[in-house]
Amino acid sequence: MNEKILLKLNNLIHTYKSKYNIQQNIIYNDISIIEKNVIHSNLFNDIYYSKDGALFEKESVFLKGNELDNRWQLWEMSDENVSNFNIAEIGFGAGINFLLTKNLWSEFKSKSKSKSKSKSKSKSKSKSKSKSKSKSKSKSKNKIKKLHLNYISFEGYPLQKNDLKKVYELLCESNINFNFDFDFIKIYEKILPSETPTMTSYSFEKENITLILLWGPIEKLIEILLQDLEQQDVLEGKIDAWYLDGFSPKCNSEMWSENVFKMLNKFTKIDGTVATYSVADVVKKGLTGNGFEIKKIKGPKNKKEILIGKKK
Ligand SMILES: C[S@@+](CC[C@H](N)C(=O)[O-])C[C@H]1O[C@@H](n2cnc3c(N)ncnc32)[C@H](O)[C@@H]1O
Repeated sequence: MNEKILLKLNNLIHTYKSKYNIQQNIIYNDISIIEKNVIHSNLFNDIYYSKDGALFEKESVFLKGNELDNRWQLWEMSDENVSNFNIAEIGFGAGINFLLTKNLWSEFKSKSKSKSKSKSKSKSKSKSKSKSKSKSKSKSKNKIKKLHLNYISFEGYPLQKNDLKKVYELLCESNINFNFDFDFIKIYEKILPSETPTMTSYSFEKENITLILLWGPIEKLIEILLQDLEQQDVLEGKIDAWYLDGFSPKCNSEMWSENVFKMLNKFTKIDGTVATYSVADVVKKGLTGNGFEIKKIKGPKNKKEILIGKKK
């Protein structure tokens, strides 16, 4: 992410903390395995990751629900001068959505690299023929944009490092086709704070990704961001796609409060999107009442329906 925005976010949290003198030790999530490979949160009494195909499910709901692949390709081809794509997530958990997104992004980047290589090869072949004719046209078409992905995630009750490892091992057993990045555990350890609210980040230089974690209960973080003591509108109109992944409204009403929907309205770009497992009334009403057009679509495997939306 643009360094300025990172700095502003950091300042905002610091200003708020010193004004209200709030600081809290981290409350960790607590998990148990209730059936073979079903990971359960004891804190929220809800399921983190289901039995089989948890990754396929997440990919279908959040990555496909937000049409990332398609949008990235269109974005790359467009003449738009925007070089950042900003995804925000509510509920970082074990970072599975993040790792899936990182993989998709890396595939997209390597496809676009090989496309631009073959383009420049064929271009040099026909260069002499149509040199003057296509000069101005090719300039804009073959301009290689330096595309950057920012992934901003809110997390109030993180997993301890050992639980993260346990989750990866279990998911590995039942999702054998997925190439798990166990190295991420080391990164997670570095960015995990001891107190909230706070922000930490990590830059994946090679992939052009910045991961930004906003740590703390969502209501507290929203208070900070919406109140914006420095009046800088740091995230206003900046988010391209949201993953709403904070347990079900039945088990966790805090995640689906009116303030959450107000934040979605304020921070999402026009035509920005949301995707979520939940089709509960509170979610549908919250989104439609805050500027989103919504649609129920067929969910993956055992999930009958999921919800997607677009900011109007
Ligand atoms: C289903 S898990 C998310 C899984 C995650 N997206 C992944 O891909 O691994 C839901 C997450 O929401 C977090 N959460 C629940 N209530 C919260 C709240 N009020 N504020 C912040 N985070 C919350 C939980 O701690 C948990 O990590």
